[in-house]
Amino acid sequence: MTKSAPFPQHFLWGGALAANQAEGAYQLDGKGLSPVDILPDGKHGRKEALAAPLKALDRTYDYYPSHESIDFYHHFKEDIALMAEMGFKTFRFSICWARIFPQGDETEPNEAGLRFYDQVIDECLNQQIEPLVTINHFDTPIALMTTYGGWKNRQLIDFYLNYCQVLFKRYNGKVKYWLTFNEINMILHIPLFGGALDISEEAHPEQVLYQSAHHQLVASALATKLAHEHNPQAQVGCMLAGATYYPYSCDPADIWSAIEANRNNYFFIDVQSKGHYPKFAERFFAEHQIQLAMEPEDLDILAANTVDFISFSYYSSRLTSHDLSDKESTEGNVFASLKNPYLKRTEWGWQIDPLGLRITMNDLYDRYEKPLFIVENGLGAKDVLNADGTVDDPYRIDYTRNHLMAVSEAIADGVECLGYTSWGCIDLVSASTGQMSKRYGFVYVDRDDSGQGSLKRYKKKSFEWYKQVIASNGENL
Ligand code: BG6
Repeated sequence: MTKSAPFPQHFLWGGALAANQAEGAYQLDGKGLSPVDILPDGKHGRKEALAAPLKALDRTYDYYPSHESIDFYHHFKEDIALMAEMGFKTFRFSICWARIFPQGDETEPNEAGLRFYDQVIDECLNQQIEPLVTINHFDTPIALMTTYGGWKNRQLIDFYLNYCQVLFKRYNGKVKYWLTFNEINMILHIPLFGGALDISEEAHPEQVLYQSAHHQLVASALATKLAHEHNPQAQVGCMLAGATYYPYSCDPADIWSAIEANRNNYFFIDVQSKGHYPKFAERFFAEHQIQLAMEPEDLDILAANTVDFISFSYYSSRLTSHDLSDKESTEGNVFASLKNPYLKRTEWGWQIDPLGLRITMNDLYDRYEKPLFIVENGLGAKDVLNADGTVDDPYRIDYTRNHLMAVSEAIADGVECLGYTSWGCIDLVSASTGQMSKRYGFVYVDRDDSGQGSLKRYKKKSFEWYKQVIASNGENL
């Protein structure tokens, strides 16, 4: 057991999942299709389908991992009970937009979809778990892509706000913490997930991506306003696929490349947190022939409705150089990164860098001076379910411990941090690969990469470890 620097008294310990990777029940109770529902697993063309989703829609694949997933839809009571047993103070989950508005553009919500989330939220509250709700986690209804072209169409702002309005009204007094868009910067990297976009045939993809991002930024600001109108105590956060880029060397050209790469990500949070586009965007837009169409009120909306806190995911630091040609790169949360010789990698090639989390936290806090919330962090690894129903996962304990040590150091550095929700606290379907075998959880789910298995839940060794971490408020890591 390792002693850490103290965590704040009301630190929100917990775990996170997302509807699109956990719920299953993909057509039940009136649900419309979500982006993930049209994707096969990695072995059967997931990457290609992500790159050209309209073509994927016309195809029939043998297996769609999301259609049943871990069936959280029918197991949520059991799953939340396990989270309560670990002592969770908070549980981050997302609401599936297409359960509430199956086509996305209806005026009236689907009552059956709302009833499901009523139960999830009430179950959390019964267990004294604070819900932390992501409004859109890679989950814009597919019908909004086929009918309107996705977020490049400004009408999506209204559809999104109608959806938010329903949620804020229904869950007023029950949900205090909201995240408007999961990993908003992901729109540049996985346009289908980020913005229900198919850019495969766009003449100027960057124009489309930044225009869509502008619509999301305005939607996020208006949602923040709406949430505060419903409940002045509401806390609304932006969400960044975080991790600082390091320069490959002390060559000033590498330093500059790292600055630019970081700006590419900060761009979104700059707008959501500071309320205006960063100055560097002007040159970037001009050099990339990007011209944003805006309504006259947009800049005022952005300025008046900044977020209350900055949430982010962190899996790995990133490394870049001005000259990528002769250097080896590696996998990681879809962001290109060079191989860092100082770091070990996971089985999926994601670099493991706990100190990078402290660096990222200090960077974000210095830049925004708003409380941070780590809403995703974890290790995707292959686990073995032993015959006696146990799972020994010391590697996950090590990974989480080392990252929590880094969090405690960042807090000691002066960073305000509201909480930590470990990603995929229960095993779920991987977003990038569609695999089940890339497991993140403290709870094992019996299901394999081809969808076979009983869906039975088993506590891993890390379950007991995380439980005592929470019980000691992070003192015993
Ligand atoms: C984040 C996403 O980018 O990374 C999650 O918000 C995702 O949805 C997580 O699951 C881990 O990535 P992957 O590809 O291993 O599931």
